[in-house]
Amino acid sequence: MSRFTEITSRKGTRSVKWDYAAELYQSDDVLPMWVADMDFQVPEPVIEALEERVKHGIFGYTMPDDQVKETITSWLYKRHDWEMEKDWITYSPGVIPSLHMIIQSLTQPSDSVIIQTPVYPPFYSVIKQHDRKLVTNPLIYQNEEYSIDFSDFENKIVEHDVKIFILCNPHNPIGRVWKRDELIKLSEICLRHEVTIVSDEIHADLVFKPNTHIPIASLSEEVNQSAITCLSPTKTFNLAGLQASYLVTADEEKRKQIKAQFDKQGMFMLNTLGLTAMEAAYRDGEEWLEELLKTLEKNRDYVTERIHNEIDEIRVIHAEGTYLIWLDFRKLNLSHKELKSFMQKKAKIGLNDGESFGEEGQGFMRINVAAPPKIVQDGVDRIIQAVKNHRQ
Ligand SMILES: Cc1ncc(COP(=O)(O)O)c(C=O)c1O
Repeated sequence: MSRFTEITSRKGTRSVKWDYAAELYQSDDVLPMWVADMDFQVPEPVIEALEERVKHGIFGYTMPDDQVKETITSWLYKRHDWEMEKDWITYSPGVIPSLHMIIQSLTQPSDSVIIQTPVYPPFYSVIKQHDRKLVTNPLIYQNEEYSIDFSDFENKIVEHDVKIFILCNPHNPIGRVWKRDELIKLSEICLRHEVTIVSDEIHADLVFKPNTHIPIASLSEEVNQSAITCLSPTKTFNLAGLQASYLVTADEEKRKQIKAQFDKQGMFMLNTLGLTAMEAAYRDGEEWLEELLKTLEKNRDYVTERIHNEIDEIRVIHAEGTYLIWLDFRKLNLSHKELKSFMQKKAKIGLNDGESFGEEGQGFMRINVAAPPKIVQDGVDRIIQAVKNHRQ
């Protein structure tokens, strides 16, 4: 058994996905396939590096040195052909904290921020919690595919005098990996109207061939100077609980403003074990990542084929990247409230509520397929059986 087929119980580890599911879904027998972490053990070299560090036994204040930055820049160059400078890096405990810092440091209350919906729920809250104005550019959904409404994007930017665009690439929950021409068009509009691009690229390493992830900042020097990219090894290597991430900001002025905001909150250090794991993962985790990608792709194809072959009521949106799959349940003709209850009580599966990604998510749910095949199979069986029972 490989670490991608073996089931490691996570119950009792204070896992949000497994231990909080009973409370969230009000049932002990719901299979949790929701929050975005993986049911796989991390690369062996990461475990070894952590063991070694733990054995040392002293966990005082820890400082990331140049070597860690070197590991990060090498990774981004090797995996994404992105040449960047070490000085552009600012550490952060997570992408969500980074988004909060960016919004607070680069905008004023009531400034407008645009996002492309449906999208990762904290994009809404980071805007609203700081009393900034939320502007949405809904994605176009046609023939089970998503695309960008560029004219709406530009019109809204002009109409609302938008200051920041938060891009999600690869996009959670719809699984699109934006193409070069799409990114060029978006960046041209942003440059034309002096909109700062904040690109959440946390899923960058989780992309299936022939798709390739293109960091928006790598498009041109002009875009690089406008963009702030949020990255992390935590999605790629299943390290979310260790909270280690970073921002890449080429423009010195913006970088200073963001750094000052982190300092204001007393956040200027990384977790010792997070740092150890990040370095080991980027240095020695590539082989594991290649295996992971094969597993995720197989899981994606399995879910798609089984559902499309066995029932007509659900459409599986093709994911070009991420381990999150967006499911369209609208043919079931249930209200969104009924759909949620159906999944919980009839299918007994814990999925992410589509509506939490925005109103466009009504009738949709998100499934996380980063689990050993047996778990994925169990989840699909539950959904298909519940739909078949519902017909009778
Ligand atoms: C698009 C996106 N951004 C950010 C995060 C969370 O990042 P972090 O745990 O580093 O705050 C997630 C987690 O699912 C995500 O999907």
